Amino acid sequence: MDLLKEEFIREFIDITNEGYQKGWHERNGGNASYRIKPEEIEHIKPYLTYDKPYDKIGVSVPNLKGEYFLITGSGKYFRKIKNKPDENLAIIEIDSSGQNYRLVWGLTKGGRPTSELPTHLMNHSVKKDRTHNSHRVIYHCHPANVIALTFVLPLEDAVFTRELWEMATECPVVFPDGIGVVDWMVPGGRDIALSTSKLMEKYNVAIWAHHGIFCSGEDFDETFGLVETVEKSAEILVKVLSMVNEKRQTITPENLRDLAKDFQVSLPEEFLQ
Ligand code: 13P
Ligand code: ZN
Repeated sequence: MDLLKEEFIREFIDITNEGYQKGWHERNGGNASYRIKPEEIEHIKPYLTYDKPYDKIGVSVPNLKGEYFLITGSGKYFRKIKNKPDENLAIIEIDSSGQNYRLVWGLTKGGRPTSELPTHLMNHSVKKDRTHNSHRVIYHCHPANVIALTFVLPLEDAVFTRELWEMATECPVVFPDGIGVVDWMVPGGRDIALSTSKLMEKYNVAIWAHHGIFCSGEDFDETFGLVETVEKSAEILVKVLSMVNEKRQTITPENLRDLAKDFQVSLPEEFLQ
């Protein structure tokens, strides 16, 4: 058996590589994590070692006690993951208090999990509860069009949600709950983790002003597809805003209500005013 042939690891490597190809991960930009299923852990147990010391997470995530995560390393380049996964990825285990973690596989040339570990784990904690254990992937990247919009739109959930819904008919169906926006904050710490995970109680997408995006989903395809959809919509909006001051026509609130009915999604009225 080869650990790197496990399906969840192969899929993780695939999406991080695709994300790099899309230009979302310059240098060490972005990070990703996957909450590993118990049966997957059982399968790879022979490859895990338990001799490393625990480190503080920086936030408390008691509902993640004993869970394992596959996660990118801090300062590691997404470009390099495909060829050297064991140097750039880590598997970590959360202790019984939910305050500490230890490395059980990976980062063979040294290093630590992403500096956004507090945000990843707080988001997983919220999503594990809110989705009855179904969400397992948190993905963070730096897509140019989403970031560009944070310089010109008001940093309000309602504005980003409505503008991005209007840019492509599929958007309200793909992210019916909407999008949350975090004002500019220093990344990599507890405060931005708390602000982001608060938004994750309501949304699957959180945009960090002048920085990037966090998405949550059940699996790799769904989560990656969500980033693709939001970024494509942002690209259309950037083009529209570059051409005109005002849209000549758009998808109206009535159109959105009709769409919601036919596609059986519920769109919060607060975004249809
Ligand atoms: P890391 O290299 O620590 O993952 O940081 C990259 C990043 O995008 C920070 O927000
Ligand atoms: Zn970042």
